[in-house]
Amino acid sequence: MPRITANNNITFEVPAGQRLVLALKDNGVDLLHRCGGNAKCTTCRVVFKEGEPEKMTQAEYDRLSARGLLGQVRLSCQIVCDHDMTVEALNLFPDSGLDDPGPRPEDHITPEPVWIDAPEGVKPVGD
Ligand code: FES
Repeated sequence: MPRITANNNITFEVPAGQRLVLALKDNGVDLLHRCGGNAKCTTCRVVFKEGEPEKMTQAEYDRLSARGLLGQVRLSCQIVCDHDMTVEALNLFPDSGLDDPGPRPEDHITPEPVWIDAPEGVKPVGD
């Protein structure tokens, strides 16, 4: 089972293939997911410290490109947990002042993923 390490060194194991946004949410990382996991809002963004996936969905690429965020963050709603990862979720619900974190994302990646290689130079330099 993949081991995920997140904010404040919370560490947990998750079933292989689980969406990262749900792995975080269901294991004590109360992050935002305002669009319900559809690669539209970018509030589920995380910074990778280790284990950044080499694949990304076309939807993630398009959204991060449009927001000028490519190479800085990844969208946890567009990532499946298939190996160990260390991440920092940047937008936490308790800090947001919002009434709710957003609709719960589906168990599977939405929209239907089209997988592409993460472009050269996308991966941020680790700490
Ligand atoms: S982009 Fe909105 S929840 Fe991921």
